[in-house]
Amino acid sequence: MCGIVGYVGSQSALEVVTAGLKRLEYRGYDSAGVAVLADGGLAAAKKAGKLVNLEKELVERPLPTGSTGIGHTRWATHGGPTDANAHPHLDNAGRVAVVHNGIIENFAVLRAELAERGHELLSETDTEVVAHLLAEEFSVTADLAEAMRLVCRRLEGAFTLVAVHADEPDVVVGARRNSPLVVGVGEGEAFLASDVAAFIAHTRSAIELGQDQVVELRRGGVTVTGFDGRPGDVRSYHVDWDASAAEKGGYDYFMLKEIAEQPKAVADTLLGRIDVSGSLTLDEVRIPASELREIDKVVIVACGTAFHAGLIAKYAIEHWTRIPCEVELASEFRYRDPILDSRSLVIAISQSGETMDTLMALRHAREQGSRVLAICNTNGSTIPRESDAVLYTHAGPEVAVASTKAFLTQLVACYLVALYLGQVRGTKWGDEICAVIRDLSRISVEVERVLETMEPVRELARSLAEKDTVLFLGRHVGYPVALEGALKLKELAYMHAEGFAAGELKHGPIALIEDDLPVVVVAPSPRGRSVLHDKIVSNIQEIRARGARTIVIAEEGDEAVVPYADHLIRIPATPTLLQPLVATVPLQVFACELATARGNEVDQPRNLAKSVTVE
Ligand code: F6R
Repeated sequence: MCGIVGYVGSQSALEVVTAGLKRLEYRGYDSAGVAVLADGGLAAAKKAGKLVNLEKELVERPLPTGSTGIGHTRWATHGGPTDANAHPHLDNAGRVAVVHNGIIENFAVLRAELAERGHELLSETDTEVVAHLLAEEFSVTADLAEAMRLVCRRLEGAFTLVAVHADEPDVVVGARRNSPLVVGVGEGEAFLASDVAAFIAHTRSAIELGQDQVVELRRGGVTVTGFDGRPGDVRSYHVDWDASAAEKGGYDYFMLKEIAEQPKAVADTLLGRIDVSGSLTLDEVRIPASELREIDKVVIVACGTAFHAGLIAKYAIEHWTRIPCEVELASEFRYRDPILDSRSLVIAISQSGETMDTLMALRHAREQGSRVLAICNTNGSTIPRESDAVLYTHAGPEVAVASTKAFLTQLVACYLVALYLGQVRGTKWGDEICAVIRDLSRISVEVERVLETMEPVRELARSLAEKDTVLFLGRHVGYPVALEGALKLKELAYMHAEGFAAGELKHGPIALIEDDLPVVVVAPSPRGRSVLHDKIVSNIQEIRARGARTIVIAEEGDEAVVPYADHLIRIPATPTLLQPLVATVPLQVFACELATARGNEVDQPRNLAKSVTVE
């Protein structure tokens, strides 16, 4: 939700900031804007639509060159995506500029107060009040960082703010509460951004900002304080990937690149998990084994694709540990007053580590005394920082809005947690754990094989470009895979897509089946629980008899489905619980190709943003 960049140094701020915005466009792309300090003044430009509109504007009406600047790419909350509502927002004198991510909940009151004091506000946004408040405070303090601290103390809600003032030409000030902001530290220059991707081309030295902190950037260094003015604790870290990891690398879309990276992402997430004695070690899981032995319930909270990973994890956790496991949409979790205590282990799954719904769910769980384990892909993000323990997935940066490699690695991480729980609680023997790890280690090669055979899937997708609806069916772990296939199709191809538990069909949804309706069916392994496989074969026959065009994903050697499959997508044979790791891949390719065939923007689907930092 909105990408923010700030820069102070000796390079052209406009170049650094616009290049940074390009890398953050996945966070929002409703409008974009920049402000630079130059020649004793402040110059700004902003445009509705994608960054390319702003770039055109900057060619037609160039800004003066300066080495201090800020920029923003927006996902609209307050006020539609217009030029006027685009950030930065300025005060009436045009001396202060501010960009913002989040929602200022008390903005209406603040706006009314400002209007009474004679301020003229030009946009419908909550952000603009901050520019005016900063200008007022600066007129008293002549210190932008102090002005920011004073303003932040009056704001309610979630926000990242980054501001510059023409009277402090070598200073950029940022603040954060419940919204991401990281600092990059270079030689004689410093950066602020919603995500390290914005400055990774310049420096890999980063600082995590804590909750309710203000940071002042100067060429010579960075000062962090709390909103109360006290020196703030900082955690520096080294970003372990480089600029090339955040580029398309020859692919047309980030999504295609990220799909192709899945074998490596899966392998990397498994690296170093078994110690010399053959035990599973999860170093980052700092919850003592004695406490994990006392756990009587696991609750998984997550959103979207990460929620689907959680649904699959439930099968593994319950099967391997015999601990009851609930999976809940993070956005619903705290509102139903869930029953939690110190014996509940809450697992929060999030690629970005910034999803507000998941963050709020984990805070609620901690308030109830539960331990929280985060499964996360983004080092230094808020969710792992606020959890008791974290297991990082090593997918590398995921830029495409639709999650792919993060999903597969979340599954791997969930399996590792399940096995670890089994190990500490003694419900799984060491050799059993090693056998599953061996199976998991082979998955990377199997995913590679799936990727090599995707041309017929692409062809099929293209042939369905004119359809309105596609349904997805699955049983057992294939059910969340069906949900994930439908989600991918909705968000990328803008088609009506629904995932169902195949057994539920007869309770209503079968009425949807009509002539030539494409229905994707994820068939469980016939080598697993044969009853499941038999049942799905019956389901395929039922829908085909009613006219459905069946697209069956089935493992190699499964001949029973062949007579009923209008299209057959083969996947390698895997153990039942691990099948989602291979079965999801064709569905990702299918959705990506259908979106392309329908002329949609694959990496930046309409109305969406990668990191959802509002509730
Ligand atoms: C779908 C997708 C979203 C995210 C969801 C959670 O392709 O990407 O559904 O999975 O917004 O995001 P994270 O994992 O960052 O918490």
